[in-house]
Amino acid sequence: MKFDVITLFPEMFSGPLSESIIKRAQEDKLIEINYHNLRDFATDKHKTVDDTPYGGGQGMVLKVDVMDAALRQVKSHPSAKLGARKLKVKSKTRIILLTPQGKRLNQDKVRELAQKYNNLILIAGHYEGFDERIREKLIDEEISIGDFVLTGGELPAMILVDAVSRMVPGVLAEGSADEESFMQKDEDGKYLKEYPQYTKPVEYNGWTVPEILKSGNHKKIADWRNNMRKK
Ligand SMILES: C[S@@+](CC[C@H](N)C(=O)[O-])C[C@H]1O[C@@H](n2cnc3c(N)ncnc32)[C@H](O)[C@@H]1O
Repeated sequence: MKFDVITLFPEMFSGPLSESIIKRAQEDKLIEINYHNLRDFATDKHKTVDDTPYGGGQGMVLKVDVMDAALRQVKSHPSAKLGARKLKVKSKTRIILLTPQGKRLNQDKVRELAQKYNNLILIAGHYEGFDERIREKLIDEEISIGDFVLTGGELPAMILVDAVSRMVPGVLAEGSADEESFMQKDEDGKYLKEYPQYTKPVEYNGWTVPEILKSGNHKKIADWRNNMRKK
């Protein structure tokens, strides 16, 4: 999976996406993350990426011409690290705009993105938002990470990269995510969550491990866990 992030603040990504599992996935060439600074696509000498809104109002709006130039370049950007090997089948690209008004991200969407596409182009906004023509003409879908407003789309983009990467084959140990929260649904289509887990010590401060987990009765333990996953 190749991720291309269009942002005004590429430096924000270096910490969160350079550690642990996501770091290893990049080293193992299972995923590739490229950052593209929107400002590099501005054409005037001031490197202008935004302007005041027509009709008046608060804040600055990201410009459609600059975004179009960025997307044209990013779409033709070859895979630097995965190489032709991983992306030689015609790249299935999805352009995603991160906005508070977008469709709320959930595990079904995460899985769909990981399975259907091999290149996700993520656009992180800033300031007041985007020229509406970006939304109407240049993207495939809009995703929100929740019903609240952040200062920019960088954190939402990081969340999307992290969540989708976990679903890329080989990033996690085989089967290790199967029983995690939101990976399966009950008969009514409601997401199941993970069951409670305990480890040693068996008692701490008088806080104990449920007897059933120490019983050695695998059937009863499985029933208890299944029950707890629905809570
Ligand atoms: C300050 S916000 C703009 C909010 C916009 N004026 C509104 O009222 O909906 C700046 C940028 O942060 C990103 N953003 C903020 N909250 C988000 C969320 N919940 N999900 C995804 N992106 C978000 C978007 O890229 C947005 O363009």
